[in-house]
Amino acid sequence: MTDRKNTPSLDTLFAQANGVIDPQTGGVVPPLQSATTFVRDENYDPLSPNHLYARDDNDLTRLGENMLAQAEHAEDGLLLPSGMAAIATVMRTVPNGGRIIMQSGIYWGATKWTRDFCNRRDIDLVEVDCSDLRALQQAAKPAQILWIETPSNPYLKTVDINACSTIAHKIGATLVVDSTAATPVISQPLDHGADIVMHSATKGINGHSDILAGFLACKNEQSDLWQNLKTDRHDAGAVMGSFEAWLLIRGMRTLPLRMERMCENSLTIAEHLENHPKVESVLYPGLKSDTGHKIALRQMTGGFGSLLSFCVKGSREEALKAVSKMKIFKRATSLGGVESLVEHRHTIEDTVPDNLLRLSVGIENIDDLIEDLNQSLT
Ligand SMILES: Cc1ncc(COP(=O)(O)O)c(C=O)c1O
Repeated sequence: MTDRKNTPSLDTLFAQANGVIDPQTGGVVPPLQSATTFVRDENYDPLSPNHLYARDDNDLTRLGENMLAQAEHAEDGLLLPSGMAAIATVMRTVPNGGRIIMQSGIYWGATKWTRDFCNRRDIDLVEVDCSDLRALQQAAKPAQILWIETPSNPYLKTVDINACSTIAHKIGATLVVDSTAATPVISQPLDHGADIVMHSATKGINGHSDILAGFLACKNEQSDLWQNLKTDRHDAGAVMGSFEAWLLIRGMRTLPLRMERMCENSLTIAEHLENHPKVESVLYPGLKSDTGHKIALRQMTGGFGSLLSFCVKGSREEALKAVSKMKIFKRATSLGGVESLVEHRHTIEDTVPDNLLRLSVGIENIDDLIEDLNQSLT
């Protein structure tokens, strides 16, 4: 028998929400506490330790943070009200006149906000394709943050976290990895040299397209940067509400199971589309033909995520025609939910090729999904 060091697997921890039982009722689901303030006794001591005010302490948020920090092999974790709030909290630690090196061609909202922020704060923003290590090496100069996203949205580029960690530390930068498209089930960037891992927990982590959430986790809880992030979240008040945290935990209980099915469905779809006569190219790290496949094999385990893009043969017109015929894939933005979505990214972001369609693959029956894609591409 293998030595499991008495540590239950992630599947078990998540299924049982870290084994939390409501101490008052024995309920197997953590109770939803909506109070924002908590009374003190006659001696002016809190009636219950760690319960003073909802911005300081929230049991549900703490439970969600512990579950995710364990999954990321992190020393500590912080939940925030959205992925963008998590991104902004990290970027705000860079002083005026500092420098951020950021991967190009990543989630558009992150790029746009960071450009505006750097402009306002006189911060030098260097945008470079970090999947091209030579280009990154050439662009590298002393900076506070090296920001990468792997796999990237919507181009599904795989970035070598280990190599970026070496480069970041040489130039005195903190390596932050947006690992949203991977989720903590299939990738743990901190094990590959990242200092901070970030997620839009709105996506796969929650998985039900019904709340916004962001998450940050760190390798070194004592670092000045992490302490700054904690203070900023608390003092600036970027905290989640109880109901959102409760829904997030409810969603996370099935995360390992959902990811298994979504990764399986995604790989089958990617392989199918790769051989489809109406498809020009498929972008998915799980494909053996993908330029990032070898690195993906090293830093992703158990699958390659539920996000993939493909270019339809032709132009905008052919792509939009296919989208309009889809019945099971819903025409909507976002990713990581149990329902499959399709997005014509160019409509929102005009630098993306106009024949590119981004799919967020859900947990539906794979034959139904393939059938829908086939009929839409006729
Ligand atoms: C890779 C990635 N990072 C961050 C975000 C921002 O997250 P949120 O929408 O939760 O603010 C998104 C949103 O689509 C994303 O795709």
